[in-house]
Amino acid sequence: MEFENSLAFAEAMDANDELAHFRSRFIIPEKDGEEQIYFLGNSLGLQPRSTQKYIQHILDDWGRYGVEGFFTGKTPWYHYHDQLAYTLSLIVGALPHEVVVMNQLSVNLHLMMVSFYQPEGRRNKIICEAKAFPSDQYMFETYLRHLGLNPDEIIIEIAAREAEYTIRTEDILHAIEVHKNELALVMFGGVNYYTGQVLDLKTITAAAHQSGAKAGFDLAHAAGNIPLLLHDWGVDFACWCGYKYLNSGPGAVGGVYIHERFHHDISLQRLGGWWGYDKEARFKMEKGFKPVLSAEGWQLSTPSMILFACHKAALEIFEEAGLEKLFMKGQQLSNYLLYLLNEINSRSKNKSIDILTPQTEAGKGCQVSMLMLKDGRKIFDELGKQGVFADWREPNVIRVAPVPLYNRFKEVWKFAEVMRNCLKFKV
Ligand SMILES: Cc1ncc(COP(=O)(O)O)c(C=O)c1O
Repeated sequence: MEFENSLAFAEAMDANDELAHFRSRFIIPEKDGEEQIYFLGNSLGLQPRSTQKYIQHILDDWGRYGVEGFFTGKTPWYHYHDQLAYTLSLIVGALPHEVVVMNQLSVNLHLMMVSFYQPEGRRNKIICEAKAFPSDQYMFETYLRHLGLNPDEIIIEIAAREAEYTIRTEDILHAIEVHKNELALVMFGGVNYYTGQVLDLKTITAAAHQSGAKAGFDLAHAAGNIPLLLHDWGVDFACWCGYKYLNSGPGAVGGVYIHERFHHDISLQRLGGWWGYDKEARFKMEKGFKPVLSAEGWQLSTPSMILFACHKAALEIFEEAGLEKLFMKGQQLSNYLLYLLNEINSRSKNKSIDILTPQTEAGKGCQVSMLMLKDGRKIFDELGKQGVFADWREPNVIRVAPVPLYNRFKEVWKFAEVMRNCLKFKV
């Protein structure tokens, strides 16, 4: 698509956007009566207007029926989960019974380690990204210590090459090949939280499997942001959170995908709880753990219906909008932003922005990360004053994510305009 740097062009894009009306389904933060530019859907997605109503339904049923609400009312709580898993299965490219909605991301990563990290003699290494999101690093470190292993001897981190910002797939594949006889697990973030880089999950999974290792992914920044085909790619497990692109609120319930080939394997290690017990026999309260023979067999505790209600409100909007259209608009928004940033650079005597995010469709989703070479903090503060919600990461990185459900092309244009003005020259 041919882009133009003008407000009129951006407004024309919005006028032709068939998803534009979904913006009105969200509460947009305002200051002095003016809507702000919210580019932090990669951190905490905005609140759907329907969330309150769905929570109220739970409160009403709780008030009216007490514990009977599990089996009575408009949406009996006992089966509430099924409505969430179906939409999520479309979002992550899984079969509905391969998805379970439970706990939160860091907890779920620990639970998946129990089942999918099975060190055996020499085969005990884990390949992951250097500078992974801290929770993933702490999860590996503490889980390995819990097993009596030394993380420094187990973890092999893959970093970007010197003077590069993103990890090359060939470097991941090379490490898998080198360590193929001692590898137990390959685990990466599907979209890197810092650079916004999308990894080639299909190729990494195939290489991990060829070496005899399991492949799992942290999809915090991928679920609802990029197309995923976890089942077809044969991914063993994946975990994500509900509060970023999935708009399900602060501390939202998380999601887990487990490939169906593991569902009937009772011998697979796992931590159990009564909510993961065979649904038909759960209330017999018998001794001896018999898991549900689906991803639901990894549940432990009674889920929070309030959190489920928030998730349902948000997921319904995804289904209504259609994933293909959403992902296409997400690409267009980030492409437009990249076009405007590249233009700022090309008109500037000295380059002022290094773009960390890969600039190809396969290499990115909505997020664009910029290393500011000039006046980074000043520009970030000015963006805040002008009503732009962006994210600052040391040493000099601004991350933004214009998301397709509630952001506009006009906002992308305005963001670049503020940057241009801050850099004190006109494009
Ligand atoms: C990539 C990634 N992994 C893990 C986490 C931790 O998630 P939680 O706090 O829901 O456990 C986050 C949180 O932002 C994240 O971005």
